[in-house]
Amino acid sequence: MATVLVLNGPNLGRLGTREPDIYGSIDYAGLEKLITDKASSLGFEVEVRQTDSESELIGWLHEAVDRRLDVILNPAAFTHYSYAVSDAAVQVTKSGRKLIEVHLSNPHSREEFRHRSVITPVASGVIAGFGADSYLLALTQLAV
Ligand code: DQA
Repeated sequence: MATVLVLNGPNLGRLGTREPDIYGSIDYAGLEKLITDKASSLGFEVEVRQTDSESELIGWLHEAVDRRLDVILNPAAFTHYSYAVSDAAVQVTKSGRKLIEVHLSNPHSREEFRHRSVITPVASGVIAGFGADSYLLALTQLAV
């Protein structure tokens, strides 16, 4: 059974209480359960993780390369400025695995600083703006 890493960046552990008008009322545990249920219905093992640390997130991307795993990545605010996360993400796609960038919100309909992603140029694709469904759509794509 293929394993998929679902990696979440800073502040996503605060879902439910963090700006529910933008991110919805689902909390992180609820998001994790939705992802886990969808993954098992598609026949995947899934490891869902969240960190506020850039260093930890980079370590997990290196792990994906070493274990040859596809990745669903919500880099959160790192999306917009972290060349270090981008440099780690490109190693995943260059190793022949998929890396799908996801966002709960649609960053392009929000503040100007969110319009730029340093992850998109190295990602296999991007799914944004569909709340928790962004992750489920990414899993569906990995099943194709
Ligand atoms: C986000 C969008 C980012 O701009 C923001 O910094 C986040 C969450 C999203 O899922 O909509 O933390 O990645």
